[in-house]
Amino acid sequence: MNETLERWGTRRAFILAVTGAAVGLGNIWRFPYITGENGGAVFLLLYVAFVLLLGLPMMMAEILVGRAGRRSPMQSIAHLASQAGASRHWRWLGLFGAFTVFCILSFYSVVSGWSIEFLVASINGDFVGRSAAEIGAGFDAFLADPGRLTFNHTLFLVMTMLVVAAGVTKGLEKLNNLLMPMLYALLLVLAGYAATTEGFGPALSWLFLPDVSAVTPLVMLQAMGHAFFTLAVGACALMAYGAYMPDHQSLPRAAAAVAVLDVAVALLAGIAIFSVVFAQGMDPGEGPGLMFVTLPVAFAELPGGPLWLSLFFLLLLLATWTSSINLAEPMVATLQGWGLKRGQASAAVGIAVWGLGMLSVLSFSSLAETRVLFGMNPFELVSTIPPEIFLPLGGLLIAIFAAWVMPEQEALRALDAGPNGFRFWRALLRWVSIPLTLVVLGAGLI
Ligand code: PFF
Ligand code: NA
Repeated sequence: MNETLERWGTRRAFILAVTGAAVGLGNIWRFPYITGENGGAVFLLLYVAFVLLLGLPMMMAEILVGRAGRRSPMQSIAHLASQAGASRHWRWLGLFGAFTVFCILSFYSVVSGWSIEFLVASINGDFVGRSAAEIGAGFDAFLADPGRLTFNHTLFLVMTMLVVAAGVTKGLEKLNNLLMPMLYALLLVLAGYAATTEGFGPALSWLFLPDVSAVTPLVMLQAMGHAFFTLAVGACALMAYGAYMPDHQSLPRAAAAVAVLDVAVALLAGIAIFSVVFAQGMDPGEGPGLMFVTLPVAFAELPGGPLWLSLFFLLLLLATWTSSINLAEPMVATLQGWGLKRGQASAAVGIAVWGLGMLSVLSFSSLAETRVLFGMNPFELVSTIPPEIFLPLGGLLIAIFAAWVMPEQEALRALDAGPNGFRFWRALLRWVSIPLTLVVLGAGLI
């Protein structure tokens, strides 16, 4: 299959595809709410440090393996391992990645479904003239209704799997081209508006003035997990996209561009959301509902509010769509590697993810008090352990594979940054990223 593999048409298309995978709920929904739960600036500081020291070099490692292998993640790893004379067992890493994205996509689809509901509600003008408390109560009532959650989850997953079945490079290129610039522009407008509100000053100091005494191993683990999650690293999802990367493109430059954009989106979203939180005297540690309650409040005060809010949820939905398509790719590629047709593989993945996602749907009603493991209900479990443990673990193993196991010549070529760039990257991975990930994982788990 590798001879006929699709390719992204241009370098720009590759960067946009990876940006599309990276920018999503992680930036606009998850980043603000876990930053809120972890006290603000310290968390932000750790997260940015982890993006630079671990996320970025490991993102290059992951894309590089896919680019050098030009096959599905499992097959690429197996191929490079056999070239290097290393154990073929490395390929199970591809399967672990597929399992990780299976868990992540199940809740990702449910939360993306919330955006569908909010898009429709904002088009209907449902938030006009409502107070923050009323909007919060409406959100809680929505979560407690499994029928509406199921409908939106199903709709979103069907939308995702249809694009995946058609082949990611075709549909995604056009979508990304249009979507990403519009999303940035809208976030800029929103953050600009936030700057005129009284919550802006407190939001900035809360986000940017760290209190280092608040650093604990658990906060570090969460910040590290979020760095992996937001960059889409550690689950072989970018490895699958790397297989479609064109020749003659510097991987470090592409990866750095993506990381900068990804952090910028998170910061803009954070500024906008926390300005509302402080202006309205809300609780930053409100949890997963934070964005869904604050943004309708913020937009309600802008001239033309419902229109802006609708546009925002539309763009958010499109951004989560491109991320979900990426999340599905390692599973579909694995099944295709086992001989299934793309359409069949997409259907199978869709059904399985839908089923697991139903546990997240019910976690806001009948399963809310069902403690599956570590005192967490199903939604809490799949939205915590895979991002915070599985992604760093997967990223760690991919990095070890890229820096120590695969043939050096292949890595050098696939990085496409010259011999010095290659040596710098590999030293960073070997002596900083890999040990640091081990330490934080170890300390956090203990
Ligand atoms: N990076 C995506 C986000 O921030 O929303 C989520 C994600 C995509 C995580 C793909 C992991 C992944 F493999
Ligand atoms: Na992200």
